[in-house]
Amino acid sequence: MTLPISTILFQRSAQRRGRLALLILLGVAGATPLLAGTILSPNQRTEARIDKRAFGKLEDGTPIDIYTLRNRNGLQVDITPYGGTVVAIKTPDRRGRITDIVLGYADAKGYVSDISYFGALIGRYANRIARGRFTLNNVEYRLPQNNGVNHLHGGVRGFHKVVWQPREMTRAHGVALQLTYLSKDNEEGYPGNLAVTATYILSDANELRIEYSASTDKETVVNLTHHSYFNLAGAGMGDVLQHKVRINADRFTPVDDTLIPTGELKAVKGTPFDFRRATAIGSRINQADDQLVFGKGYDHNFVLNKQGQELSLAATVYEPASGRALEMWTTEPGVQLYTGNFLDKVRGKAGKDYNRNGAFCLEAQHFPDSPNRPAFPSTVLKPGERYTQTTVYKFMVRGAKEKP
Ligand code: GLA
Repeated sequence: MTLPISTILFQRSAQRRGRLALLILLGVAGATPLLAGTILSPNQRTEARIDKRAFGKLEDGTPIDIYTLRNRNGLQVDITPYGGTVVAIKTPDRRGRITDIVLGYADAKGYVSDISYFGALIGRYANRIARGRFTLNNVEYRLPQNNGVNHLHGGVRGFHKVVWQPREMTRAHGVALQLTYLSKDNEEGYPGNLAVTATYILSDANELRIEYSASTDKETVVNLTHHSYFNLAGAGMGDVLQHKVRINADRFTPVDDTLIPTGELKAVKGTPFDFRRATAIGSRINQADDQLVFGKGYDHNFVLNKQGQELSLAATVYEPASGRALEMWTTEPGVQLYTGNFLDKVRGKAGKDYNRNGAFCLEAQHFPDSPNRPAFPSTVLKPGERYTQTTVYKFMVRGAKEKP
C-alpha cells in the first residue's frame, strides 16, 4: 500500500483523532489508504506558494536568486535559475519528519565550482557523444571532449552552467517556475540557435513535474534531462545501497570502457541490470561484471518498455527505513541509473560530506551517443519542429510492513 503524502496530513485535534481511528479501520479493510503514526502537525500544512530570496553572486557579480515552491502538503522544492538547478527537495518520512532528499550546496558559489551536476538541467545533449563528434547533413561538428575523449552533458559550459530566465507561474494543481534559455548557434560547438523552456511544476499531488520544449533555426541534436541526486533517507545520510529500485526495462545499452554504448540492446535477464523486480541497489553492485567495472557501479541507460512517447512509469525507488518512495514517469525512451560512483568527500549543504554511492540519479533521456547511432531513436531537431519532454518525480511514503 503506497500512501500519497496528502493523506497523511491531519489536524491533531481530539475530534479528528477519533475520525482518524475510524479511517484507519476502514484502511485496514482496504477502503482507505491511511496508516497510523503518520500524522503531521497542523503547522506543516501550507498554502501552495512561491517565495524568492538571494542565493549569492557569480564571480562577475551577477546576483543569483533561489525560488522556493511549496505545495499544500508541506512539500518544498528550492530551485535556482543558475543551471536551472534543484537545490533542495523536502519531503516527510512515514512519521511525518521532513528531510531534504537531494544533494546540493549551501550557496550559488558551490554550484559554480560543481563538477557533479547536482540537481541541474542538462543540455544541449545529456550524457555522452563519442569523441565529441557527430555529422549532420554531411557536416561534421566538433564538441568539447570534457570527459576523457568523449563529450559529456553539453560540454564545459552546458545548460547546467548558464543563468536561465525565471518566471513564476500558477498552474491548475500547483505552482510553477518557468525557465527559458537561448543557446546560441555554435555554443559548445552545436549548430543552430536553440530556444529552450523548462518548467518545474510542484503539484498538490506531490509531483515535481518538468516540462521541456525547444525549437531551433538550424538542424541540430537535442537531449535534455534533469540531474538530481536523491537519497531518500536524507542527503548526506550515508549510502543508498539499501534503496530498492524497480525499472520498467527488459533491456539496457551496454557500454565500452569509456561509457559509450556498443550499439547492442541487451536483455537484462540474468544480469545485475535486471531491476524488473524491486532489488536493493547494493545487492549486485560489486559483482564481477564488466559493465559494472566500466561504470564503477551503475552508470547505464535502460531501454524503457513502452509503445511511443507516452508518459509512462519508468522507475520506482523505496527506502525501507524512512518509508519514502519515489516514482519516476517520463515520455523519454530511456533512463540513466547512476549511483553516485564518482562522489568523494564532496562538501554539501548543512556541512554534510557526500561520498561514493551517497545518492542515485534517474536521468530521463534519449540513449547516449544517439547522434552516432542511426539505429537508436533519433535526437535530431529540425527547424519548424518542436522538441518536447515531460518527466515526473512523484513523492510518497509506505508503511513499515509493506513490501517494496
Ligand atoms: C551521468 C554520467 C556519469 C556521470 C554523472 C555525473 O550519469 O553518465 O558518468 O558523469 O552523470 O557525474
